[in-house]
Amino acid sequence: MSLSIALTKGRLEEETVRIFEKAGYDPSELKNKGRKLVFIDKSDDIKYFLVKAADSITYVEHGVADIGVVGKDTIMESSQQCYEVLDLKVGRCGFIVAALPDNNIFKKVGHIKIGSKYPNVAKEYFKKRNMDVEVVKIEGSVELSPILGLCDGIVDIMETGTTLRENGLVVLDRICDISARLIVNKASFKMKQQEIGGFIKRIKAVI
Ligand code: PRP
Repeated sequence: MSLSIALTKGRLEEETVRIFEKAGYDPSELKNKGRKLVFIDKSDDIKYFLVKAADSITYVEHGVADIGVVGKDTIMESSQQCYEVLDLKVGRCGFIVAALPDNNIFKKVGHIKIGSKYPNVAKEYFKKRNMDVEVVKIEGSVELSPILGLCDGIVDIMETGTTLRENGLVVLDRICDISARLIVNKASFKMKQQEIGGFIKRIKAVI
């Protein structure tokens, strides 16, 4: 198999498949996949597999996948080493700091607790601001943590803003923009220069 590609399941899946199709690849099997996780495109000699975002980086770092598609949010949270080669400009959202309207954490004195699925990103953000903050790792529905009194605020991703709005939270700061990225294993980048270079070129042409 000449190239193996780790795709992130869920939100990014559809948009990634659309980009690959536009570039002339045939990931059609991915569209009616059921519970299957590995797909072979014989004509282009590509093996695709579907994994969770953070695992996509793991597979690429270990060289099991040459290429991965993953959100910048996951890349920022991870300490793993891969080349980030292309912004796919889909899956756009932003990292934000939010809280209940009557609890502006930037004006608060004393101990502050922040809930996040991205503890490293959250710690880094507050460290840069010299704020002493305790970060609590939350696995999902992060917006609940200030409502239930577990935390004073959250660091999370916001796409449409609906989840924040419907749960009465307000944005206090936008940390940065996020979108899906193409990542490449460092060794593959050298060993499969031609295949990977060709692949990136075709994807680049359609975004
Ligand atoms: C993400 C994120 C927010 C929401 C933002 O959660 O953590 O909760 O999406 O999207 P919006 O701005 O369009 O409302 P996800 O849906 O991945 O679920 P989770 O909380 O279970 O992780």
